[in-house]
Amino acid sequence: MALNRENILIVDDDVHILELIQRHLKALNYHTYKAISVKEAITILQDKAIDLLITDLRMPGVDGLELVKYVSEHFPHIPKLVVTGYPSIDGALDALKSGAMEYMTKPFTKEELKKAVLNALKDKPKKKQVVSNVAKDNKAYGELIGKSKALKKVTDVIERVKNNKATVFITGESGTGKELVARSIHYMGKYATAPFVAVNCGAIPENLLESELFGYAKGAFTGADTQRDGFFQAAHRGTIFLDEIGNASLATQLRLLRVLQEKEITRVGSQKVEYVDVRVIAATNVNLKDLIAKGRFREDLFYRLTVVELEVPPLRARLEDVAVLAQTFLFKYGVEFKDRLIPITEDALAALERYTWPGNIRELENVIQRAVIMCHKQITIADLPEHLKYTIDFPEDNQELLPLKTVERNYILKVLEFTKNNKTQAAKILQIDRKTLSEKIK
Ligand SMILES: Nc1ncnc2c1ncn2[C@@H]1O[C@H](COP(=O)(O)OP(=O)(O)OP(=O)(O)O)[C@@H](O)[C@H]1O
Ligand SMILES: [Mg+2]
Repeated sequence: MALNRENILIVDDDVHILELIQRHLKALNYHTYKAISVKEAITILQDKAIDLLITDLRMPGVDGLELVKYVSEHFPHIPKLVVTGYPSIDGALDALKSGAMEYMTKPFTKEELKKAVLNALKDKPKKKQVVSNVAKDNKAYGELIGKSKALKKVTDVIERVKNNKATVFITGESGTGKELVARSIHYMGKYATAPFVAVNCGAIPENLLESELFGYAKGAFTGADTQRDGFFQAAHRGTIFLDEIGNASLATQLRLLRVLQEKEITRVGSQKVEYVDVRVIAATNVNLKDLIAKGRFREDLFYRLTVVELEVPPLRARLEDVAVLAQTFLFKYGVEFKDRLIPITEDALAALERYTWPGNIRELENVIQRAVIMCHKQITIADLPEHLKYTIDFPEDNQELLPLKTVERNYILKVLEFTKNNKTQAAKILQIDRKTLSEKIK
C-alpha cells in the first residue's frame, strides 16, 4: 500500500481515545502526533508541518474550541476535524463557526473516522510549507507579528506580566490587536494550560448578568435543573478577558469590583462563597477617564483594573510593520482563496506603507483579503481601494498643521508627480475638470 505522508495531530485528554485514533490512522498509513492538552498541541503545531488536526472539544483547562480558533487564525491551511463525546447542537455550531470543517461524535467506527479524515484532507492546499515558513519568519513574539520598536515595547510588558497574575489594562484604538495581546499574555505564560475566557462586557443582558458571570445553583430559578458555572468559574486558575470594559453597565461594574476586591463569588441562588483564582485582563478603545468624568464608569474599579497599563500603538505609529503584516495576510488569504502565495508589487506595498490606517491591523487585513480575491496574478495599485491609492504624508504630532490651501497645493503637486505631469490623468484622479486644475496650477 502506498504511504500516506500526511502528518495528523490528534488531541484528546483521554489517552485511550488518543491511542484508538492513532491505531486506526496508522493502519491507514498516516503519520501521527499525539497531544493530551491544548498546550502540548500548540508546541507540536509550531514545530512540525501538520496537515490535519483532530481534536476533542471538551477537555479540562483550555478546551478544543480555543484550539480550533487558534489553528484557524495561525495555521489557516490546516483542516480541522472535531471529535466530541457530547453531541450537542450548540457545540457543533460553535465548532463550525470557528472554522472546524468536519465534526464527529464518539463513539465512531474506523470507517467513519476514515471517511471524515479523507473529507477533511480533500481540499488541502499544496503550498503549505511555503506558507508556514513565511508565517514563522515574520513572528515577532508568539502570534504577534511585527518588528517595530513600538511593538517591542508591548512585548516587553507581556514578558514582565505573563508569569504573574497582575491585573493588566490594555488600551488602544480599534483593530490594533488588544485581544491578540491579551491572548499572548495568557498563552505565552506559565498559566497557558488553564483556560482563557473572553467576555464582551457590553454584550451581557442585564437580567442574565449575575448568572453569566458567576453561574447559578440548582433550583435558583425555574428551569435551573442543574448547577451551572459562570465565566469566572470557567476561568479558574486561568485568565478572564473583560473586553470593551467601557461598555459594562454600572451594575456589572459594581459586581466586578467586588470580585476584584474579594476574589470571591457567589452563584445565583446560593449562599456559599466560592474562591476563584483568576488573572483579570481588561481592554477598552474608549477613554475611561472621560467616562468617569461623565459618571458612567466607576473610578474605584478603574484603579483596580489599571495595575499594569499596556497601550497597543496604532498601526500608523509603526508603519515599518506594514510590510511583514501584509506578507502574512497575503499568505493566509492566498492559501484560502487562491491556493498559493500571492505577490504584491513594490508600488502597491509603498502605498500601503504611506496610508494612515484608521482601522489599524483589522483594516489592513481586510484590504489584503479583498485584494487577494480581486487581483489576477499579483496585487497591484489597481487592486487597492481608491482612498489608499493616493495618500499624502501627514505631519508628525508635534509638527505645525498646515492651512487647507497649502495642503491642496502640495497634494496637487504630488498627484502631478505621480502622473508624470499628465494633467488629464491628474484631473481624473482629483475628480475636478482639467480647466479647474489648470487654474489651480497657475
Ligand atoms: N501584531 C499582530 N500580528 C498579527 N495579527 C494581528 C496583530 N495585531 C492584530 N492582529 C489581527 O488584527 C485583527 C484585530 O485584532 P484584535 O481583535 O486583537 O484587535 P482589538 O484591538 O481587540 O480591536 P477592537 O477594539 O475593535 O476589538 C485580528 O484578526 C488580529 O488577529
Ligand atoms: Mg477586541
